Amino acid sequence: DCPSLSLVPVIDSTNQYMLDRIGQLPKGSVCLAEYQQAGRGRRGRQWLSPFGSNLYLSMYWRLDAGVAAAMGLSLVVGLAIAKTLRKLGANDIKVKWPNDLYFQDKKLAGILVEMSGKAGDAAHLVIGMGLNLTMTNTDSETVGQPWANLAEACEMMPDRNQLAAAIIAGMTETLLRYEEVGMAGFVDEWDQYDNFLDRPVKLLMGDKVIRGIARGINPQGALLLETEQGMVPYLGGEISLRQG
Ligand code: ATP
Ligand code: BTN
Repeated sequence: DCPSLSLVPVIDSTNQYMLDRIGQLPKGSVCLAEYQQAGRGRRGRQWLSPFGSNLYLSMYWRLDAGVAAAMGLSLVVGLAIAKTLRKLGANDIKVKWPNDLYFQDKKLAGILVEMSGKAGDAAHLVIGMGLNLTMTNTDSETVGQPWANLAEACEMMPDRNQLAAAIIAGMTETLLRYEEVGMAGFVDEWDQYDNFLDRPVKLLMGDKVIRGIARGINPQGALLLETEQGMVPYLGGEISLRQG
């Protein structure tokens, strides 16, 4: 079946739209919106989604290998988008473990993977991406951290339709490759795009703060942190990485 593209002017959340349609649309199908009334980030946080000035899209994907294989998904999708943006002329596009794109130490885009599917079964996943294009300060009073938009990173802003099409194509290509080679096939590439490679960082885990030097990722997609105890891998959704 050919993947479908749903263009919706206004929606609560493109991730929710796709989650509500799991099983009804072919793998690779996409929902793209102009405006989200309830755009969301990880752990119930808000994703600011003003009208017309950003890109909000979600793709449905099925992994026959099950939920265990879904761990690395936000990482490889982030890489796919970073590569696409660089190809379209954006400079200095980086990835931040586990789910963000950065430009000059500021958040440019976020990725949210949500799933339905029990262990052992195929994993049904919705991969959402919010990418800031021309968002202004007045749009963003509520963003509690430094952020950037694509206009800052490009001398010539790509056409919005072309951008969306290239991102969708890049994600699809990368996800198919991920099914073949797994996370291990992306480690070298990750290093080339890693915003924090060899830099001091801190990991926030609840009220715990762990400091060290970021040393990239391991073949499972865990963040490698060099600490006084040696190299420690960190994996899991409850960790936030910050400049140290
Ligand atoms: P983590 O490192 O855990 O991912 P995070 O602060 O990036 O932490 P997320 O849940 O991934 O948190 O993303 C949501 C956060 O992103 C919000 O709390 C807000 O600070 C920020 N944010 C919301 N909308 C935007 C936007 N359009 N552009 C950039 N940043 C945004
Ligand atoms: C994050 O950094 O926490 C991830 C943010 C993900 C935002 C995108 S916008 C399209 C899709 N729909 C949502 O409600 N969230 C994702």
